[in-house]
Amino acid sequence: MVFIYDTSAIPQMPKPVNLIVATAQNRVIGRNGELPFDIPEDKAWFHEKTTGCVVVLGRICFESWPASLGGGRRPVVITRDKSLASARVPVAASVTDALAIAQTLPGEIMICGGQRIYEETLPLADRLYLTLVHAGVEGDTYFPEWRHLAWRETWQRESADANYRYTFSILERQRNS
Ligand SMILES: NC(=O)c1ccc[n+]([C@@H]2O[C@H](COP(=O)([O-])OP(=O)(O)OC[C@H]3O[C@@H](n4cnc5c(N)ncnc54)[C@H](OP(=O)(O)O)[C@@H]3O)[C@@H](O)[C@H]2O)c1
Repeated sequence: MVFIYDTSAIPQMPKPVNLIVATAQNRVIGRNGELPFDIPEDKAWFHEKTTGCVVVLGRICFESWPASLGGGRRPVVITRDKSLASARVPVAASVTDALAIAQTLPGEIMICGGQRIYEETLPLADRLYLTLVHAGVEGDTYFPEWRHLAWRETWQRESADANYRYTFSILERQRNS
């Protein structure tokens, strides 16, 4: 005898919310619509970690990152411009709506910026993929302060290139249960 279970009625746990960012020590993440540092190893890390993910991102990040449509990534774009929506690219007018859409799509949720989106999602983050660039750089776009929140570092690797020293970390948010 074969039993077929219909699991659609079983409530599912919401997927964790992951953030990924490369930030300078002074929290600068962008300058003139671009990254304020050129670190090939970090770009490779970012591409690897976002492969196959639901990438939630602001309109400027989406327009400047064509690969958000490659590597099995599913972008959910936050914008007030509904005309940007297409069959492959759902758009949302708020972070809340974007996360609701992201929960329905297959793949891990990875928040990819920019500034306002990081500000609104950091309090919700379960995990932070952090590249900390050990330098102060000039820029116009910032990551919110994260160091006062309770995190458990589960992984870390130090690295450097000719221009910068940087640390890759995976931080899990600690919440009182
Ligand atoms: N270092 C890193 O890891 C990293 C990561 C990401 C980005 N960056 C840098 O950050 C800069 C881009 O970020 P950004 O903050 O300027 O732009 P962004 O967040 O990519 O895009 C801004 C646009 O997104 C929409 N948006 C953002 N928050 C919204 C909200 N809460 N509700 C509704 N719409 C919202 C609006 O689009 P509409 O105007 O269309 O309504 C807004 O104009 C670049 O310099 C980029 O290189 C760096």
